[in-house]
Amino acid sequence: MNSKQIRQTFIEFFEKKNHQFIRSSSVVPLDDPTLLFINAGMNQFKPIFLGEKKPGSTRAVNSQKCIRVSGKHNDLEEVGVDTFHHTYFEMLGNWSFGDYYKKEAIAWAWELLTDVWKLDKNRLWATVYKGDDDAFELWTKVTDISPDRVLRFGDKDNFWEMGETGPCGPCSEIHYYIGDNPDEQTPDGVNASDEYWELWNLVFIQYFRDEKGTLNNLPSTHVDTGAGLERIVTVLQNKKNNYETDLFMPVIRKIETLANSSVEKNPVPHRVIADHIRMLTMAIGDGAMPSNEGRGYVLRRILRRASRFGRMLGMHEPFLYKLVDSVGEIFGGIYPEVKDKQSHIQNVVKAEETSFNETLDRGLTHFDRMIKKLDGNVISGEEAFRLYDTYGFPLDLTQLMAKEGGLTVDETGFVREMSKQKERAKTAGKFKRDTSSYTWIDVTDGTDSEFVGYETLESQSVIRKYVKEKDQIYVVLDKTPFYVESGGQVGDTGVMTGENIDLVVNDTQKDGDTFIHICTGDFTPPSKDDFIHCHVDESRRNAIRLNHTATHLLQAALREVLGEHIHQAGSLVTDDYLRFDMTHFEKTTSNELEQVENIVNTAIRENYVVDCSIQSFDDAKKSGAQALFGEKYGDDVRVISVGEFSKELCGGTHVNQTGDIGLFTITEESSLAAGVRRITALTGDKALRIMQEQTTILTKLQQTLKVKPTEMVERVTQLFKQRKELEKKLHQKKQGDVDITGLINQGESFGNTILVVEKILADSMDELKSIGDLFFNQLQCGIGVLGMIGEKKPAIVVVVSQDLVELGIKAGALAKTIGGYMNGGGGGKPHLATAGGKDNKMLDDALKQSKNFLSEILAKFEK
Ligand code: ALA
Repeated sequence: MNSKQIRQTFIEFFEKKNHQFIRSSSVVPLDDPTLLFINAGMNQFKPIFLGEKKPGSTRAVNSQKCIRVSGKHNDLEEVGVDTFHHTYFEMLGNWSFGDYYKKEAIAWAWELLTDVWKLDKNRLWATVYKGDDDAFELWTKVTDISPDRVLRFGDKDNFWEMGETGPCGPCSEIHYYIGDNPDEQTPDGVNASDEYWELWNLVFIQYFRDEKGTLNNLPSTHVDTGAGLERIVTVLQNKKNNYETDLFMPVIRKIETLANSSVEKNPVPHRVIADHIRMLTMAIGDGAMPSNEGRGYVLRRILRRASRFGRMLGMHEPFLYKLVDSVGEIFGGIYPEVKDKQSHIQNVVKAEETSFNETLDRGLTHFDRMIKKLDGNVISGEEAFRLYDTYGFPLDLTQLMAKEGGLTVDETGFVREMSKQKERAKTAGKFKRDTSSYTWIDVTDGTDSEFVGYETLESQSVIRKYVKEKDQIYVVLDKTPFYVESGGQVGDTGVMTGENIDLVVNDTQKDGDTFIHICTGDFTPPSKDDFIHCHVDESRRNAIRLNHTATHLLQAALREVLGEHIHQAGSLVTDDYLRFDMTHFEKTTSNELEQVENIVNTAIRENYVVDCSIQSFDDAKKSGAQALFGEKYGDDVRVISVGEFSKELCGGTHVNQTGDIGLFTITEESSLAAGVRRITALTGDKALRIMQEQTTILTKLQQTLKVKPTEMVERVTQLFKQRKELEKKLHQKKQGDVDITGLINQGESFGNTILVVEKILADSMDELKSIGDLFFNQLQCGIGVLGMIGEKKPAIVVVVSQDLVELGIKAGALAKTIGGYMNGGGGGKPHLATAGGKDNKMLDDALKQSKNFLSEILAKFEK
C-alpha cells in the first residue's frame, strides 16, 4: 500500500463507523497568533472539548498537517539524525465528542491495526495510565492482545496535555517493535528504546487544567487520538526508516539528482533537507512567510539549516526551491494548496535562499577561522551573535556546527548580545533627532504626553519642558491632541498659542513615551501658570483619517483577492496618500488591482461603522485581529473593527464610518524588495481630483484624436505604427537622394583607385552609416570619406573597398585620424568606420585635411 492508500484506509475505516471526515486545518493557525503552528489533530477541536462550540457530528476523523519544531516531543537536533522525528508530519486521528469512550477507542484501534492492516500482534504493545484500571481491563477484554503486553506508565508517558492549560486526560498508547529480533522484546524497551515506536496515542479527555494548575472535570468525556502517518506507513511498507517511504522518497531522489549524491553514502544531509523542505512547503503553502519574528523566524531558521546541509552535499547555488514540486508530487490531490500555491512557494523559498546564499559562504569561512583561534571549547555569545547579525546564522545553526566540532555555544551570552542590540535599535528608532544632547528647560513638573487627540483636536495644556535648537523650538506638554508619528501614520501639525507664544507645529515625533512637538514661531519662555492652547490642523487630520481607515480596508481586500499570505510589511499614512507594503511575490495584475479597488469601494459604500475598543492583547488575538510583524503591543491594545470586514490592532486615528472615505483609487503598484510589493493609493477628494484630471486628459485626447474613448488605444497604436512606417520611408528616400554613382564618378583617380571626399546631407549618424553601406556596395576600388553637418556636431563615415582592406588600409584607423582633425575620435570596422567631432565648423577643414592625407597614401600605392 502506498501512503495515499494508507491514509485513505484510515479515514474510510472510521467513516464506516459513522465518523464525519473533517479536512485538515491550515498548519499555520492564522487566527491564533499565540500558537506558532498546529501541532496536533485536536487543535481545531479544542473549542468543542471546552463546550464553547457544538460539533457538526459527535464523531470525527481526519488527517492533520502538523509542525513541531521544538518542545518536549521534538528536538530539532534529532531530525534527520534518527529515522523517525520530523518537523512536519501528519497525524491521523479519530474523535468522539461526548459520544463513545475508552472501549470503542481501544477496540477500533486494535481492529484497524491487526485486522485491516494485519500488523503482527506479537510486535504490538499497549500502555495505559498507571491508575487507569478501566483501560487496562478493556485492553484485556475487548482485544486479543496478550495481557503481558499491556503496561502501566506514569504522568510523563501516559497523561496527555495540550499545553500548560487546556483539555487533557489519561492516555493509552500503542507501540510497535521494529527490531530484528522479536524474541528479544522486553517490556523495558517500551518508552525507552528506539526500536519500539509509538504508533498511536488514544487520549481520554476528561479534564480541563486551569491557570492554577487544577484539574477540573469536563461536562462530558471525549476521545482524541493521534497516529503518526509517517511511522504507520513505514511499518506497513516493511521499512525501518521513514525516509525510505513514498512520503519522502521523491524528494530524496530529487536531491540526489541535483547534488549528484547518494543517500546511502551520506544519509543525514539528505534526510534533513527532505524533512525541512516538506515543512517549508506546507507552512508557506498555508500562508506563513519567512521573517525575523515568531513564526516567520522558525521558517527562516529551518530554511537556513537546510541550505547549510546543502553545502555539505556540495550545493552552492539555491536548490531548495527545486524540491517544492517533489513535495507537490507527494501531497498533490491530498492537500491542494501545495499545488495551487506551488509557484508562490517556490518564489518565497528561492528568494529566501538566494539572500542567505550571499552570506552563507562568508559565514562558513568566518566560522572556520573563528574556531581555529578559539581558546577552549565554548563559542562566546559575542561570536554567536556576530554570526547571527552579520552572516544571518540562526543560533541553532551555530549550535549545530559547534556540536559537529565538539564545541558548545554560550547561549546566555548570545541572548544578552541580542537584547543589547534590541535596545540600540529601539533608541535609534525612537526619534530621528538626537535630543539627548539638548539641554531641556523644565517649566512644570508631572507626567507628560497624555494623548487626548482621539476625542478632541484642541486642548488647554501646560508646557512641561522645551528646548530651542537653531530656529526650531521643541515642546513637551502635559497632555496633547497632536498625534505622534507612529504605526505608519505621520505626526499631526497645527498651532499652539499662549501668552507671548505663537507657534506653528510642523511635526510631532516620539522619543520613548514623550511626544515632542517640533515648532517654529514666536516663543517667549512661559511661566508655570501659563496655559497654552493647542489646535490640530483639522482638515489635514481628516485627510489622514480617511487614508488610515482605507489602509485597513485595502489590507482586508488584498487578503481576499490575493490570499491569506498577505501581511503588512510596512505602511505610510499621510494626508496626501497612503502606501501599503505587503508580503507578496508576483506583480499584482491590473485585473486584481481592479478587484481590490471594487471591494474597498463597496466597503466604503456599505458605510460600515468603524468601532474602536480596548481589549487585552490575548482577547484581541483570539478574536482574530490582524497584528503586524515585529510590532510590540502593550497589555491592552486598541482594536479597530470595520463592521465584519476588517479587524486590526492599531493605535491610529480613523473615520467614524467608512462612507466618510468617499472614494478610493490605487495609483501605483511596484516591487519594493524580493517578496514585498508596494501599493500607493488615494482617498476622498484627492482620489476624486486625480480621476477628474485623468478624465480631462482623456477628453482632450478624444477631441484631438476624434474617436470614442473605447477606440482611443487602438487609434494611438495605429498612429505610432503609421509614424514608424513613414519614418522608414523617409529614411529610404533620403538615402536614395544621395547620388552615389555621381559621387564615385566625381572622385579623384589614383590609377584604378578612386578617392571620394565629400560633404553630404544626412539627419543622423545612422543614416550616414546607411549611406556609407550603399557607397561600399558600389565602390569597386577606393576610399570614400563622407561628412555631414549634424544637429550639434559633425560626423564622418569612412569607407574602404575590400581590396584595399586586404592591402592593410583599415577604415577604423583612418577614422581615428580623421576624428582627430575635428578634435574628436573615430573607429569601426576595417571596411566602414565613423568619426565624430566637437564643432560643425570644423567639418570643412577636416575633410580638406583628410583629402590631403589620403591622397598621399594612395599616391604611394599607385607607385
Ligand atoms: N492529541 C494527542 C497527541 O497529540 C492524540 O498525541
